[in-house]
Amino acid sequence: MPDILSHPYRFYIWKHKALFALGVVALFITNLFDSFIPLFIGQALDRIVDSSALTDVAWTLGVIVALTLGLSLFRYLWRILWGRFHVAVADDLRNRLYSHYTLMGPSFYQRRSIGELMSLINNDVNSFRMAIGPGILILLDAVFLILIITPIMLSLSVPWTLKTLILMPLVPFVVKRVMDLIHIRYRKQQDQFAELSGSAQEIVSGVKTIKAYAQEDNQTRLFNSFNRRYELACNQVAKVDASFAPVLELSVTVGSVILLFVGAPAVIAGDVSVGQFFAFYQYIQRMVWPMSALGIGFNYIQEGNASFSRMAEALHTAPDVEDRGPLQIEQFQSLEVKDLSFTHPGKTEPTLKNISFRVEAGQSLGITGMTGSGKSTLIDLLTRVYAAPPKTIFINGHPIEELNLSQLRNMISVVPQDAFLFSSTVTENIALGMETHDPIVVEQAAQAVNMDREIKDFPQGYLSVLGEKGVNLSGGQRQRLTLARALLRKTPIVILDDSLSAVDAKTEKRILEMLREELPTSLIVSHRLASLLWADQILVLHQGSVEALGPREQVLKHSPTLQKIAALQSHREALSAEDSPHV
Ligand SMILES: Nc1ncnc2c1ncn2[C@@H]1O[C@H](COP(=O)(O)OP(=O)(O)O)[C@@H](O)[C@H]1O
Ligand SMILES: [Mg+2]
Repeated sequence: MPDILSHPYRFYIWKHKALFALGVVALFITNLFDSFIPLFIGQALDRIVDSSALTDVAWTLGVIVALTLGLSLFRYLWRILWGRFHVAVADDLRNRLYSHYTLMGPSFYQRRSIGELMSLINNDVNSFRMAIGPGILILLDAVFLILIITPIMLSLSVPWTLKTLILMPLVPFVVKRVMDLIHIRYRKQQDQFAELSGSAQEIVSGVKTIKAYAQEDNQTRLFNSFNRRYELACNQVAKVDASFAPVLELSVTVGSVILLFVGAPAVIAGDVSVGQFFAFYQYIQRMVWPMSALGIGFNYIQEGNASFSRMAEALHTAPDVEDRGPLQIEQFQSLEVKDLSFTHPGKTEPTLKNISFRVEAGQSLGITGMTGSGKSTLIDLLTRVYAAPPKTIFINGHPIEELNLSQLRNMISVVPQDAFLFSSTVTENIALGMETHDPIVVEQAAQAVNMDREIKDFPQGYLSVLGEKGVNLSGGQRQRLTLARALLRKTPIVILDDSLSAVDAKTEKRILEMLREELPTSLIVSHRLASLLWADQILVLHQGSVEALGPREQVLKHSPTLQKIAALQSHREALSAEDSPHV
């Protein structure tokens, strides 16, 4: 099988060879039948002019009817076959891109906008589909018709053929040029449309802010100007589009006029029959399509190739972290980080410097440090979102790069600060990735994060749909829900990356207490003293280095950062006797 990235056309044609071959044959037969019809119409005409027997005329008409029926049948066939072929190609490409997206790590997403990635799956897949489907079809159609019609014309008259077709070879070039222009302007029209819909979307989703800042008039003016530019771009497309048909008609007319000049004397002199003249006239008209089809087909293929190279570039990107590890481990015993330093790709300063710590099964580690001190990066390295240098992170004494990647990720649940919720039901969000959605288990997880009662108050309880059109959760609710999601997986290691920051301190304390029994090994990133003191050990990061590490009393004594946090929090508590919930 050919390689898809270097030979996409060969790859897909080979993959669907039966469908493709049948489609080509059906197309050829259609063209063959179609091309002989004028010859028989000419014959019928001659028989009428010669006042032959009516049965002769009827016989010729019978052939025409038979050809037309056969033609219709085969045209129906190739349309179905070709349709199936290029729809299957688009389907396969979309799946490839999508599953590739799921394998890609942060560096892939940092280099591309969401719009670009969506455009690959929508526009570029479609434009390649148009190339391998209609594009190749049109080219084959053109070649078949030229190969069938030219000999017929030559058999009718060699000099007529040469004289009337003299301008025809120009047609593909003119058509190609017009199509290129259409595409350039069409792309501009699409860009303008993207701006227009982006602006509309902003107004709709930001309507509160727009009103609060009395920006209605400004926004409307902005929208109007985008709308006007879109209108102009549409007109530009319409202009070239409109020139298309006249160009083709002109070439037919030129051919017909030449035919009249060279053919009429011969007909008048009786050297050529009226029927032959008529058939020839028809063939001139029929040559225009294959000639322009060459231009159209090449244009589709050119567009499709550009799209495919964009897709290939994305598909070619290797994942940040390779899943080569064969090692499966039985039971989690320890996590150890040894002298870990890490520099983000593209940066010169290291983000983490010489980090070392060890957590035994069942222990908890509190992690704290200023924003930007490297806490989230450390977690990304533990879960292999980024690849750490070899032999710096160990589980049960094995370097994590030797572990099976999906086992590693199934061993650790991370609750990020800004976890993503899907617009599906509460249950589906909590039970993400679980095979069964046992309501009792889901409820238990919600109870563990102190949210069961709130969920039951939603309009449809656990079956309420979240998101834009459903229930909108507060920051604290979102965090607790994602925590429930992580707890449900019952992984041996749970990591909370500042994931209770939007929950008020009292609730956080209650949750942590409730979790004390349930939580296996845990790493808890927090800025709250209470949550940190809850842990067996505390790691304080400062500008990517370990500032302090050890049991709480010891760290509290030696870490300036932790002392600052402690001072700030006692000050804040003094200000408000009650914990202020900032949900
Ligand atoms: N993808 C990235 N590329 C380059 N630098 C990054 C990236 N992510 C984080 N950083 C940088 O690494 C440092 C640590 O960030 P982070 O681990 O998010 O800190 P924390 O979670 O402690 O706030 C910051 O200086 C941040 O700018
Ligand atoms: Mg962070």
